[in-house]
Amino acid sequence: MDRELTLELVRVTEVAALASSQWMGRGKKNEADGAAVNAMRAMFDTVAIKGTVVIGEGEMDEAPMLYIGEKVGCAESPEVDVAVDPLEGTNILAKGLPNALSVVAMADKGNLLHAPDMYMQKIAVGPRAAGKIHIDDPVERTLEIVARVQNKRISDCTVMILDRPRHKKIIEAVRNAGGRVRLIGDGDVGSAIYTAIPDTGIDLCVGIGGAPEGVIAAAALKCLGGEMQARLWPEDDAERSRCAQMGIADTSRILYMDDMVKGDAIFAATGVTDGELLKGVRMLGNDLAETHSLVMRYKNKTVRYIKAIHNLAYKANMVFGSPIYFD
Ligand code: FBP
Repeated sequence: MDRELTLELVRVTEVAALASSQWMGRGKKNEADGAAVNAMRAMFDTVAIKGTVVIGEGEMDEAPMLYIGEKVGCAESPEVDVAVDPLEGTNILAKGLPNALSVVAMADKGNLLHAPDMYMQKIAVGPRAAGKIHIDDPVERTLEIVARVQNKRISDCTVMILDRPRHKKIIEAVRNAGGRVRLIGDGDVGSAIYTAIPDTGIDLCVGIGGAPEGVIAAAALKCLGGEMQARLWPEDDAERSRCAQMGIADTSRILYMDDMVKGDAIFAATGVTDGELLKGVRMLGNDLAETHSLVMRYKNKTVRYIKAIHNLAYKANMVFGSPIYFD
């Protein structure tokens, strides 16, 4: 993959963030997601790749665009796998809450795990704890390790966890061990990434969330030198046979970084609402809008933050492509 593709990917997440931000706080998550998908799909058509969506909006019969297997890009090479989440945190955006993102990851063809749309158990840490944790360790032990490698007290460590009843035990265990818990309503791609960015104050991310989000977060952590370990979490036989169809016969298998993202990877994210990682889209008046994005590549490890001012009059088709807006 050429390094120029990093900037191309930012254009893709920027336009999806701009489009979905038009729905911020309007209580309509499906419309917000649809706007992000339309805009991202349109921008992908201008990117010089021969891409296949391996993580997207669902199967061909469930999603009109950015479905799994869909071809994106306008060139015959390079052949790449693409994982998209045009709006990560649909509820967050609909409620006008922090930390909604638009995210994309890319790797050479065949190098991203084709994760079924089901749950996944995950653990994510930053570079200092990478290689030192294990998904099956009790969280108390993981906390000790994370505290030690960061030269912190356990009581200074914060664990980000999705606020779900299924996480009751793990939340209690972290608190009993003396750690701090930061519960979030949605958005565990962001929380995994925060562990690898020192000034977010997040030391560890654990719990069960979406498998597609897990692979996208693994690509980001790979670029940042962090680590994610995961295990698919099928809830019934239908999901187990879905895994088998997708080539994952043993669902109890631990998925390490190379199982999720092999070789080089590029990751881009644009803030939709304000968060610890990125500011959200700002409407500046006179058709101007400001975006804040992060783009990085495993091969060269550059982490680039990009602030852009967009004149929406010049990208109205992509940003306002949907025929109905706020009527
Ligand atoms: P959406 O953007 O698709 O709404 O996903 C948000 C999210 O919170 C993910 O970040 C997370 O992986 C997943 O949903 C958790 O699923 P659930 O809400 O079913 O616990």
